[in-house]
Amino acid sequence: MSIVFHHTPERAKVWSEKFAKARPDIPLHIWPETGPKENVRYLAAWKTPDDLATLFPNLEVLFSLGAGIDQLNLANVPPGVQIIRMVESSLVEGMVEYVLWAVLSFHRDMFRYARQQREHVWDGSHNRPAKLYRVGLMGMGELGSPVLEKLVSFGYECRGWSRSRREVPGVKSFAGAGELDDFLAETDILVCLVPLTDATRGILNRSLFEKLPRGACLINCGRGGHLVQDDLIPALDSGQLSQAVLDVATPEPLPPEHPFWDHPRIFLTPHIASAAQSDTAAEAVLANLRRYEAGEPMSGVIDTGRGY
Ligand code: GLV
Repeated sequence: MSIVFHHTPERAKVWSEKFAKARPDIPLHIWPETGPKENVRYLAAWKTPDDLATLFPNLEVLFSLGAGIDQLNLANVPPGVQIIRMVESSLVEGMVEYVLWAVLSFHRDMFRYARQQREHVWDGSHNRPAKLYRVGLMGMGELGSPVLEKLVSFGYECRGWSRSRREVPGVKSFAGAGELDDFLAETDILVCLVPLTDATRGILNRSLFEKLPRGACLINCGRGGHLVQDDLIPALDSGQLSQAVLDVATPEPLPPEHPFWDHPRIFLTPHIASAAQSDTAAEAVLANLRRYEAGEPMSGVIDTGRGY
């Protein structure tokens, strides 16, 4: 029985060391090297190689190296193979830091001051307390819930929206399509952290922007596919949105001529909000393998019907 690792060589090195130490009984092969293909029971990958079913006929578990699984090409994963998303602490910490930075930066007018600096303008506003900002986060899952906890601790007035109801202390919770409009109507800073599925593709669109209070800020640290890109610049230019912070785009990287690069109210980061660290990611998979071998439920199991 063996595991194949399919990502960058730097990450592979850390995984090899971790596995050699913790599980010398499960050889770890670094793609494109696989060892005997029929021995491969586990695959850890950011993106899957094509034709998985014929490549690894005895594959049992596919471990995503990301919190998201939309990049895995699920159509290529044979039925019966369990899919597990990455759940580990450094991925959570990175996202908490990123969203906190973006929310604080909007609240404290840092994006405006950055624009002013380029024009040599010295013009400050009085601080407004955090409690006057209503932050609405879509996707109260493994990442979204700790992000909300941190925002609550900074004094923001927080709301969360999820497909099914979730409770986070200090957060007003909204659930399902029926409560989305009420959630949006009370959201000055919208954070998108929902998984990308057929139900959420294009969810950040003109009609959604129009339901936000005028001048709202959009922070997208989900996937590029959540945003209807053609709807963003008109919303910013009309003042319906006053700022967008985008960590993701379609495609990545954006082509050099794409208007997002130069728009004064778009702050772009190159998909760096958060990523699993190799050592803690390998430990998370090792812990899941122990659960799997013991017949216990693994953490981060994907419901393929639901898509996350
Ligand atoms: C990063 O985007 C991830 O899904 O972990």
